[in-house]
Amino acid sequence: MTPPASRPPIRLGVNIDHVATLRNARGTAYPDPVRAALVAQEAGADGITAHLREDRRHIVDDDIARLMERIALPLNFEMAATDEMQQIALRHRPHAVCIVPEKREERTTEGGLEVAAEADRLADFIAPLREAGCRVSLFIGHDARQVEAASRIGAAVVEFHTGHYCDLLLEGQGDAAEAELAQLRRAIREAEGAGLEVHAGHGLTFDTVGPFAALDEVRELNIGHFLIAESVFLGLGPAVAEMRRRMDAARL
Ligand code: PXP
Repeated sequence: MTPPASRPPIRLGVNIDHVATLRNARGTAYPDPVRAALVAQEAGADGITAHLREDRRHIVDDDIARLMERIALPLNFEMAATDEMQQIALRHRPHAVCIVPEKREERTTEGGLEVAAEADRLADFIAPLREAGCRVSLFIGHDARQVEAASRIGAAVVEFHTGHYCDLLLEGQGDAAEAELAQLRRAIREAEGAGLEVHAGHGLTFDTVGPFAALDEVRELNIGHFLIAESVFLGLGPAVAEMRRRMDAARL
């Protein structure tokens, strides 16, 4: 099922970090995140996302090199705004670079970037990436100040953090989840109005993807942990295909 021509298309970016988490748990060469990317590609993913963290807890440098070499889909390279990561991105020139805040002690990316307070530094940081032809995306929360700052410093894309909404739903806090969703919807519309391409992701599952896939302004969803977890039961290809099906159904 594909959405009617009148609705703008929405891409599914599959984040393969946690295939590497599983591999690294035993120090083996398998499961290989590049193989996972190829399976996701075959199953209908529109892009592959990989986060090279400073501590290399899942994806490692060689994974990025092999992904660039072996996959036909665009790579969305997630990274912190550090000199080391900037050098790596400039060496590989992936299709997109998504800048995320990173704390060593966190289990996953907890919040959005503070773009407004660090606008000058981030503007300087992203300039060479833009010149190298990478689409720069900033991972932010629904704060209007961050949207305005992202647009001002020349980001092409903002990706909204959907993790808090998903957590609230999981915790059974339906009213708070609805309030969070309303804030995200407002910020998504502001971002599109400011000329930014809108992506969203974090914590999305078969049950939480609908409200975001339904929004015309959202052009890409990046989904990882749930898909890799679900692949234990369904297989990665069927899990990706089912996510794609649910996104298309919500878009209709
Ligand atoms: N988008 C961004 C910017 C992220 O940092 C992550 C997590 O690495 C994701 C999307 C995917 O989140 P999840 O693995 O919870 O689906």
